[in-house]
Amino acid sequence: MNALIETRAVARRFREAPSLGERIARLVGAGGDDRAVHAVDGISLSVAKGEVLGLVGESGCGKSTLGRMIAGILPPSEGAALIDGVPAMSGGARPVKTTTRVQMVFQDPFASLDPRMRIGDIIAEGPVANGQIKQSEAAADVARWLAMVGLDPSAAQRYPHQFSGGQRQRIAIARALAMRPDALICDEPVASLDVSIQAQIVNLFLKLRRELGLTMIFISHDLSLVRHVSDRVAIMYLGRIVEIGNSREIFAAPRHPYTRALLDSAPALRLDGEDAAGFKPIRGELPSPMDPPPGCHFHARCPYADATCRSIAPVLEGGVACHHPLKEVPS
Ligand SMILES: Nc1ncnc2c1ncn2[C@@H]1O[C@H](COP(=O)(O)OP(=O)(O)OP(=O)(O)O)[C@@H](O)[C@H]1O
Ligand SMILES: [Mg+2]
Repeated sequence: MNALIETRAVARRFREAPSLGERIARLVGAGGDDRAVHAVDGISLSVAKGEVLGLVGESGCGKSTLGRMIAGILPPSEGAALIDGVPAMSGGARPVKTTTRVQMVFQDPFASLDPRMRIGDIIAEGPVANGQIKQSEAAADVARWLAMVGLDPSAAQRYPHQFSGGQRQRIAIARALAMRPDALICDEPVASLDVSIQAQIVNLFLKLRRELGLTMIFISHDLSLVRHVSDRVAIMYLGRIVEIGNSREIFAAPRHPYTRALLDSAPALRLDGEDAAGFKPIRGELPSPMDPPPGCHFHARCPYADATCRSIAPVLEGGVACHHPLKEVPS
């Protein structure tokens, strides 16, 4: 397999700002343990050229943090995210983004577009600054990317507020494409859009993948959407990957009890007459990422957990990180 994206035991912690009580405790010499959120806890994965990997998991499990490290806009605490073998961000005291080969598309297109800039300038700014095109080529380049995302060339003269949410997401996608990326990290790219518009944007991603051969990581809460767009899917739980593999196989026969619970809690997936009665919420609370449980992070919520699960973290082997994986259903 020819991997474009590879992460090697990549990890990211965020320090909590100390509370007033903790600051006072430190002043008098008590306490002093640093509290950190383990947002991403040693993830190794690879994504082949032209492949779409879906990334799913409950809110706060670290999906965006992983995506931002791969895009080179957030430095890892440990490990590395590599693009064609080159780190997405240089290390050291002041890390800098070293890749333009991975671009991100965010959930809220309005927040990511400067309201005072014309669309043409928004799209051309990056590739001109980066030396990929000359200023004299900007107009033609902008027209090309607008057409690619299904917008009229006249859009170049207008401002972000003059467009609908779906159109603004097309503009954000055009801006990303103008950087000539090999890969897109799409972080909940349709979550803020009207349901009727979501399908159009999803179809646009599928078209771009076909026509430009783009590699994608597609982050979404919406399992039916992920199933629709992804070749493979990775399930995250509290900073770790618990299951990864062929999308069709995982959705048909999940091996990790958490994946099973996640699928069971998604009613939309069951509307095709499979088993509407199977819908049940995942039991228990998501543990705090500040204080993740020992062993398997999922053990407190898992019906199969035993003493081993409570003390030893399972490694990801054969696509699943579980001491008691569910049986593979023969196909
Ligand atoms: N800049 C930051 N400073 C401190 N903590 C952060 C920061 N960014 C993320 N976190 C914490 O890291 C954990 C993972 O956050 P992240 O945004 O990656 O989750 P997510 O899976 O994308 O969630 P969602 O589905 O809600 O977008 C959370 O506990 C979050 O509070
Ligand atoms: Mg997120």
